[in-house]
Amino acid sequence: MAKVIGGVFTSHVPAIGGAIHRGAQNEPYWKPFFDAWPPVREWLGEQVPDVVIMFYNDHGLNFFLDKMPTFAIGAAAQYRNEDEGWGLPPFPVPPGHPELSWAIIEKLVAEEFDITTCQDMLVDHAASIPLALAWPDREAPVKIVPIAINTVQHPLPSAKRCLALGRAVGKALAEWQGDETIMVMGTGGLSHQLDGERAGFMNPEYDLFCMDNLSADPDALTRHSVHEIVELSGTQGVEILNWIAARGALGDKVHEVSRSYHIPISNTAAAVMVLETEAARAAGNAGAEKTAELA
Ligand SMILES: [Fe+2]
Repeated sequence: MAKVIGGVFTSHVPAIGGAIHRGAQNEPYWKPFFDAWPPVREWLGEQVPDVVIMFYNDHGLNFFLDKMPTFAIGAAAQYRNEDEGWGLPPFPVPPGHPELSWAIIEKLVAEEFDITTCQDMLVDHAASIPLALAWPDREAPVKIVPIAINTVQHPLPSAKRCLALGRAVGKALAEWQGDETIMVMGTGGLSHQLDGERAGFMNPEYDLFCMDNLSADPDALTRHSVHEIVELSGTQGVEILNWIAARGALGDKVHEVSRSYHIPISNTAAAVMVLETEAARAAGNAGAEKTAELA
């Protein structure tokens, strides 16, 4: 039976990809952000996930403003990153897991979510950079199921709806009969606004509210409307919707393993968190022992 171990939550600013390509991780500007990752990698080394359910938003690579699904799920065997115009070489993208994708899709439709299924899908920096941070210097040794949430073109789904989507994904994972070790990622945020009169806006107080409640009381994050979240967090800070959905897939009780918060990275409040499920905590570092046996 599959095991859901927890989730990694992170900002996904394109400039992080530039820092990776330049080898700038230890420069004073970048070091506080990259220092968040050794504890994440230590946890991944203990838990050894096989599959990543990736909750993120597309920024115009696969979906543009003329066609913008509220929720879109990849059901492909392969995905790829392409030039997004940031001057970054495309990042490697691990293979898909179409059987699990379709199991999630079947469950979501049965739970009355009207989703878009994508058997051909590009995934942008919001998915590829977090994977590159988690597994630097190599292609992530996992299969992925990408779930794209519209955080770009209004009307956006509510935080309540995104949490419900994540919880429905969690039900699908609980029913999945495979033996994989599964984790989620939620990427984006935290507070930032890239344009308009409030360009440069960040809100550490709201970011702290989100991080404090993500593990123990994610429903607290759904008490704000999307427009209230935009006011609190900035027009792009609303990417917290991806974190909320990912959290929903982890069940009621999770434990915070690590947390980092740093301002600014490219006008963005940059945060990294790891939450671990009760089941993973109870199992201890059985995954590391499994790896040691295989070595
Ligand atoms: Fe973004």
